[in-house]
Amino acid sequence: MKRILSGMRPTGRLHLGHYHGVLKNWVRLQQEYECFFFAADWHALTTEYRTPQNIAADRREMVIDWLAVGLDPERSVLFVQSAVKEHAELHVLFSMITPVPWLERVPSYKELQENLAEKELNTIGFLGYPVLQSADIAIYRAHTVPVGEDQLPHLELTREIVRRFNHFYGETFPEPEGLLTETPRLPGSDGRKMSKSYGNAIMLSDSPEAVSKTVMGYVTDPARKRRNDPGDPDVCVLFNLHKIYSPAEVQQEVQAQCRSAGIGCVDCKKMALKNLLDAHVPMFEKRQEVEKRVDVDAILEAGNLRAREHAQRTMEDVRTRMGL
Ligand code: TRP
Ligand code: SF4
Repeated sequence: MKRILSGMRPTGRLHLGHYHGVLKNWVRLQQEYECFFFAADWHALTTEYRTPQNIAADRREMVIDWLAVGLDPERSVLFVQSAVKEHAELHVLFSMITPVPWLERVPSYKELQENLAEKELNTIGFLGYPVLQSADIAIYRAHTVPVGEDQLPHLELTREIVRRFNHFYGETFPEPEGLLTETPRLPGSDGRKMSKSYGNAIMLSDSPEAVSKTVMGYVTDPARKRRNDPGDPDVCVLFNLHKIYSPAEVQQEVQAQCRSAGIGCVDCKKMALKNLLDAHVPMFEKRQEVEKRVDVDAILEAGNLRAREHAQRTMEDVRTRMGL
């Protein structure tokens, strides 16, 4: 069975953007692959080093969401990066063979440094972000890494580092492939990218009432000012919810009725809401169940143990090959 590995920086509670963009895939991949999923808490420190106090709580909330959507600790190894110290050891060894210009060329490097100037990201840790990511991947000899498009340069770099390592010390690591999956666009209620900090997100932990409030507040076709004005679903932010949650017939009906001013936006939103809640409520209830009854720390402890076994085996091999 091929091995999948992926990680997520602990950002606290997750929203539907995370679900449709990443988690839904992870859940599906569990059927076909041996999966390792981890909370990249050291990676979070590359930008949050001034305020690390939130990271542990954010990590926990994130993992509760993972369990709520169906990541299964019986099937997949769910673990915490900082609990497997071997990642740091491989990071050091990789850093010895990684030319600095390779890292300076990574597009997100200069870009984020400028965009997040107030965070002072001129650190070794931030420059080395992709080296740590390479260690995360290589240490499990993962073949396949499901990631968003923004992560492809990091994966390319991982392949380069692994190739260089294999060239110097002998064939040790497979060259991992990125796995991109089509994901539906799901903007937040104001039309911008869904984000907790914009206040436009539907969180996995939102009660049906909270979801209802956000859905009813979604931006629609701005040209449709009055009930009698015809609308255009193609420019309507709310219609994105129908695309994900409503059956094809309903979508067609809504499109026709919108263009002919047959239905109003309030009714249209209520239909989208109903279909969204059909999918959301089971996850919401599962989440409450997990919060009340599941020993999340024990799950991670067991995952850390399994991850460590694999990582330790790889590091023994690495040390031997390097003559350490
Ligand atoms: N950089 C990834 C992100 O921001 C998180 C991550 C860290 C990761 N290590 C990884 C993803 C290894 C895949 C594999 O989303
Ligand atoms: Fe959007 Fe529906 Fe209103 Fe049309 S009727 S503008 S699709 S909310």
